[in-house]
Amino acid sequence: MTMSVSKQLLPIYDKPLIYYPLSVLMLASIRDILIISTPADTPNFQKLLGDGSSLGINLSYQVQVEPRGLADAFILGEEFIGDDSVCLILGDNVFYGQDLTEILTKGKLLEKGAAIFGYPVKDARAFGVVEFDENHKVISIEEKPAKPKSNYAVPGLYFYDNQVVEIAKNVAPSHRGEIEITAINNEYLKRGELHVILLGRGMAWLDTGTPEGMLKAAEYVEAVQSRQGFYIACLEEIAWRRGFINDRQLKVVGEKLLMTDYGQYILSLLQQDVGKEKGPLLFRHLAERVN
Ligand code: G1P
Repeated sequence: MTMSVSKQLLPIYDKPLIYYPLSVLMLASIRDILIISTPADTPNFQKLLGDGSSLGINLSYQVQVEPRGLADAFILGEEFIGDDSVCLILGDNVFYGQDLTEILTKGKLLEKGAAIFGYPVKDARAFGVVEFDENHKVISIEEKPAKPKSNYAVPGLYFYDNQVVEIAKNVAPSHRGEIEITAINNEYLKRGELHVILLGRGMAWLDTGTPEGMLKAAEYVEAVQSRQGFYIACLEEIAWRRGFINDRQLKVVGEKLLMTDYGQYILSLLQQDVGKEKGPLLFRHLAERVN
C-alpha cells in the first residue's frame, strides 16, 4: 500500500500521530527539536506545527531525500546537534505511563555513552532485541533476529552522547541497504558504553507500524481519555504544565480550537486551575466548622 501522506500526519484517535512522540520529548523538557521527514511531507509538518513558538518550543525541519536508515538522522542533524548530547524518538512510537517522566530523566542524565530501553513483548522478532545479564549489563543487541535472544524489544527512543555523530558516519549499510540504529548501538556496546533501562509492565509502548497497530493504539487512547478525562499527548497541556507557556498563551491556542473537544479540553484546564485553588478554601471552611 502506498500512502500519499506519511502516517505521522494521520490521527491516532483524536490527534496526529506525531503529537505522541513529540509529547515524550516535551515531557523530558527537551525544547530544541529537529523534525526529519521526506521532501513531500516536511512542508505538511511545518504547516501543522510551525516553529513551535505557540508551544514554547523551538522546532526546525530537515528533509531526508532518500530513506537511508535511522542512523542517517545524526548525519543530517550534525549541525543541529553541534556539541550536545541528543535524544532520538521515532515518529510512529507511542509511549504512555505514570513513570514516563522519571524514566526519561534517567536517559537524559546519562553523561557518557548511550541509553536505550528494553520493553518485554510476546514476540520480539519485528524489533531491535536487547539481551542483558542479571545486573542489566547489555550482552548483545540485534536487529529483527529470527531467533531473539530475549523477549526485550528496543523501542524507538534513544539517548546518545556526542560520539553518535561520528559513529553514524562510519556505520556500514545492512543487508536491507539501511544504516541501522542497531549498528550504532552495537558500536556503543563495543566501547562498553551501552546502557539499557527497562520499562516495566505499567508502561504502554504501542506499535503503530500496521493498520491493526494504529487501530489498537487509537482504542487505547480513547479508553484512557474517556475513563479519566485526561488527554494523552495534549501538547498544549504539557507545554503549560511544564511552564513553557503561560495561562494567556494557553487560552489563545484553546480559543483557536474552540469548536473541537480538544480545544474545549485545553480551555477547561484553566478552569480546573481555578478549581484547584478553591479546594483548600473549602477544606479550611469545613475544618473551621468542626472546631
Ligand atoms: C526500528 C528499529 C528497531 C526498533 C523499532 C522500534 O525498526 O530499527 O530496532 O525496535 O524501530 O519501533 P523499523 O521501524 O525500521 O522496522
